[in-house]
Amino acid sequence: MWPYPKVVAHRGGGSLAPENTLTAMQCGLDYGFRAVEFDVMLSKDGVPVLMHDPDFGRTVAGTGSVATTLAQDLLQMDAGSWFDPRFAQVHVPTYEAVFLFCQAHQIWMNVEIKPAPGFEQETGRVVASLTQKLLVDCGAKAIPPLFSSFSFEALEFAKEAAPEIARGYLIDEFQSDWHDALRTLEAVALHTNQKHLTPEWAKEIKSAGYGLFCYTVNVAERGREILAWGVDGFCTDRIDLISADFAIAR
Ligand code: G3P
Ligand code: MG
Repeated sequence: MWPYPKVVAHRGGGSLAPENTLTAMQCGLDYGFRAVEFDVMLSKDGVPVLMHDPDFGRTVAGTGSVATTLAQDLLQMDAGSWFDPRFAQVHVPTYEAVFLFCQAHQIWMNVEIKPAPGFEQETGRVVASLTQKLLVDCGAKAIPPLFSSFSFEALEFAKEAAPEIARGYLIDEFQSDWHDALRTLEAVALHTNQKHLTPEWAKEIKSAGYGLFCYTVNVAERGREILAWGVDGFCTDRIDLISADFAIAR
């Protein structure tokens, strides 16, 4: 049920690089990670780019939003200075560029579809269609990603656009209707916040035959604990403390 890596670098390079950038992907790779999670959102003109927040201010300076900015302008934006001035030349990347980087390095991707509010359907459809096209372009050696999203709607539209690409449904706290959601989405996994997970809930999900993925585990001991509960994989910001090879603690 979980044919994917167990330990995944969150937002590319975890806490060691500016999130959701090519620099972050390279950082994850440098630390031995062949599995990354990142967030994808649409620009004003419908181009998928890597970005976590719908509004500027945290990872890129200034005011404004992703959904009201053209891709050509987003790609010029400094996405590194907030992290460290030495990353001032690091820009917002397109999803396509990151996808191709990951394929070139045989890195598995958990693509979190992160729609700006009101763009759930379009984001799910566009990200899935582009992924399908890129997979074909990359040929037989391409590694298919796993989509995930907190947006049920985005995943429904991703399913319609690219049914063969696997989906995981992201939730924060326990939802009693989780099974209905996964059935409707024909999802392979539930992705949940490790903070709220209990052994009982983990057992319920695993007994139903689904993959179980957690975000975000930054303490090795917690990683060991939830893996013992049956969790299949997790993402981490502490790629310096938790190794990619499943040894958990360096
Ligand atoms: O996909 C797991 C995790 O990234 C979800 O939360 O806010 O870090 O995107 P967030
Ligand atoms: Mg994410």
